[in-house]
Amino acid sequence: MPLRLFRIAFLAGLTWASRVQQHVFDVEHDNPFPRLNFLSASPHIFHSTFGLLQQWTNTFVTNGHTIAPCVIGTNTNLYHARIGSTLPPSPEWFAFDSEMSYSIAGTGLNSYLLTYRTTRPVRCIYFDGTSASLMNDGSMESQMLLLHNDSSNVPDSPAFGPPPSSPRDGTDFCRPGYPIANCTRWNFLQAEYDRASGLCKLIREQGLGGLGWGYEGIVRMNAGFELIWCNFSSPSARLVSHINVSAPPVDDEHNPQAAQSEPGGVQSGTPPQPYYGYGDRGRSDGPHGRSPFPLGPFRESSTYEWFRSATKRYGFVGGAPGRGEARVRINSGSLFSFYDPALVDQESARQALEQKHYNITAHGYWRGPASTDDRRAALRELTRRRRYQRIRNITKSDGVFMRSTVLQRLRQSLETERPYSSGIDWVLAVEEVVARYGIALHDISAALSTTVSESDRTKLRATMRRLRESIHGTWIAYYEYPVLDRGNLRRTFSLNAPVSQAALERCRNQVESFSTSDLSDSEHVTYRAILAVLAAICGTLLPVFLSTETLWFTYFNNATVSPHVTLTAESKTELQSITQHNLDAVEELMAWLGWMDQWTACSPGCGWGQTCYIPTWPAIGIMGRPGPGSNGTGRGYPRRGIGMDALEKYLWQPRCIDSAHFPPQD
Ligand SMILES: *[C@@H]1O[C@H](CO)[C@@H](O)[C@H](O)[C@H]1NC(C)=O
Ligand SMILES: *[C@@H]1O[C@H](CO)[C@@H](O)[C@H](O)[C@H]1NC(C)=O
Ligand SMILES: *[C@@H]1O[C@H](CO)[C@@H](O)[C@H](O)[C@H]1NC(C)=O
Ligand SMILES: *[C@@H]1O[C@H](CO)[C@@H](O)[C@H](O)[C@H]1NC(C)=O
Ligand SMILES: *[C@@H]1O[C@H](CO)[C@@H](O)[C@H](O)[C@H]1NC(C)=O
Ligand SMILES: *[C@@H]1O[C@H](CO)[C@@H](O)[C@H](O)[C@H]1NC(C)=O
Ligand SMILES: *[C@@H]1O[C@H](CO)[C@@H](O)[C@H](O)[C@H]1NC(C)=O
Ligand SMILES: *[C@@H]1O[C@H](CO)[C@@H](O)[C@H](O)[C@H]1NC(C)=O
Repeated sequence: MPLRLFRIAFLAGLTWASRVQQHVFDVEHDNPFPRLNFLSASPHIFHSTFGLLQQWTNTFVTNGHTIAPCVIGTNTNLYHARIGSTLPPSPEWFAFDSEMSYSIAGTGLNSYLLTYRTTRPVRCIYFDGTSASLMNDGSMESQMLLLHNDSSNVPDSPAFGPPPSSPRDGTDFCRPGYPIANCTRWNFLQAEYDRASGLCKLIREQGLGGLGWGYEGIVRMNAGFELIWCNFSSPSARLVSHINVSAPPVDDEHNPQAAQSEPGGVQSGTPPQPYYGYGDRGRSDGPHGRSPFPLGPFRESSTYEWFRSATKRYGFVGGAPGRGEARVRINSGSLFSFYDPALVDQESARQALEQKHYNITAHGYWRGPASTDDRRAALRELTRRRRYQRIRNITKSDGVFMRSTVLQRLRQSLETERPYSSGIDWVLAVEEVVARYGIALHDISAALSTTVSESDRTKLRATMRRLRESIHGTWIAYYEYPVLDRGNLRRTFSLNAPVSQAALERCRNQVESFSTSDLSDSEHVTYRAILAVLAAICGTLLPVFLSTETLWFTYFNNATVSPHVTLTAESKTELQSITQHNLDAVEELMAWLGWMDQWTACSPGCGWGQTCYIPTWPAIGIMGRPGPGSNGTGRGYPRRGIGMDALEKYLWQPRCIDSAHFPPQD
């Protein structure tokens, strides 16, 4: 839905408002800010496109909403660890980082690591979010919908249940090849194999790929990126090494073999579930193969190494560009978004839910909090709303559109020689907008809030100056100063002044396409979202800029005059009112944009050798490692580490850590 830009009538009841209007803003007694539609899909389409292949962003927004055709370049190394020396069956998993493979299935007493290398550019299908996470209910939704057509058809997955009491007690633990009728316990691994086979089958049946051609794998993320490889016989990836990565065990350290001979060993000797039992994606076969819980001297530390390898793919953090998973390239001209308003039922269900939950009117306007005290909390919730969005309302008709559109775009991408229909890299275009405004909005809101709370008139000039400089930075390429009419600054800096309107147009159209007729349907969706986001940003920042300029020239521009002289009590009140009004508008814009991930950072930044920790499942360090509190007389797997409730805390307040402080303990 396009952003609705319109003005509301003068805000009755706010006494300062009339003064503001008379002194600085336009004569029509209008609120100069665009009113943001909080039900619009645009900021979500924008942000989902922005986060593609970025570990950091997708750790904040785990419920993926985008399906994208992608390519892995020639000569890319791919890793597969497994228990036993056999070659993998198909389909199976590759990790892009050996640390990930190793931690999943490489640390056992009979573990092998296979390295494959691509022989040609390999096409893939990418699901964003933490699409390989078995933890979040919403993470798998986009895959499941593509497999099952609509929400009502997606089978209920049983709640993430307790693991079997013992890894050796295989009688009710469903595993691949085990008769399903004999399973009494739901096995998430079985669900994973079903998903992998299902997606590979879809590709095959739709004529979108096969052995050595077309789409051959599925790219997903949890802690790092992985690839479901549809067929290991494919000549597109060649085995280059196959080594025994088991390390000699630590003498006398507890292990399950020893545990069996201990009284009550099976029960008490059961190692705690690594990563919630995730540890067996390298299917087990062979003598040690029955144990899904590999052991070895590096089992504990491998989680940290895995976490570290994932952090190298963080990508865009703190408003500064980063590469993310650069070994995969997106065809950004053929994206499919589950936020596409063409999914009318899904869209209206989301809107109805959010309208109620966030106090939004039917037109999408935020009603605001019950009291000013709640404002901060309410805005924070709004900023984070995308994290909680689910795809649960794909009706039959939405599903028909989704399936045919996804398949058509995959086919279109397969057939096209050019990487993008129009030659525009849309992911890059979106990233450039965040690069331009991510840090700037944070700085502007900080400068506004410093100015509002500055009581000392002399210092006010300094804070106003910083505020002015930070806002001006966003208008350099768009605003041309007119000749100052010192007798009527209000007119000079009026929103309606030709120079102001020209600046607004330049800003809003900074990514305008020369020929929109060249754009594909997918590109139109992305393009409209970018335009709406820019309309909101430029429309909000322009009145902030103009009113700040007016204040500056009215009270502060003469370097020889002390603000003490010019700034009467009344004018100071006016200044603070305007600035407060500007701050409110910028905060609401930030909430609307929802770039929660870019405004969350390790602050102060991390030292040499440290990494900024956010919980990237499953390498979150739940199990921890023996720390100072562990005296080694336990089972060797102390139940330390961070609990589930701490996960949200560390997500919003990341910590700098190193190998000795993983996971964080405070
Ligand atoms: C992989 O390709 C081989 C050779 O064409 C074929 O025999 C096999 O059935 C394929 N496996 C899967 C899972 O598609
Ligand atoms: C999904 O829809 C397609 C096309 O109508 C159909 O062929 C397929 O069987 C459906 N899949 C499921 C799981 O219902
Ligand atoms: C599965 O259950 C059937 C019937 O209870 C039994 O005969 C069969 O041996 C079981 N299979 C396995 C692998 O346990
Ligand atoms: C693999 O290496 C481990 C550790 O060095 C060793 O104990 C094991 O016997 C090796 N496996 C084989 C099959 O050689
Ligand atoms: C959307 O899906 C959820 C979960 O199935 C359901 O509770 C809700 O009623 C649905 N909303 C609409 C409008 O159908
Ligand atoms: C919703 O907005 C209205 C109008 O500002 C306000 O009176 C009410 O308290 C708000 N409700 C919540 C839950 O914030
Ligand atoms: C700046 O202030 C000084 C001292 O009041 C005054 O003499 C000067 O004319 C002012 N300059 C301008 C351009 O107003
Ligand atoms: C060492 O750990 C064991 C098991 O947690 C505990 O029972 C024992 O009290 C601990 N000993 C010391 C000295 O902390």
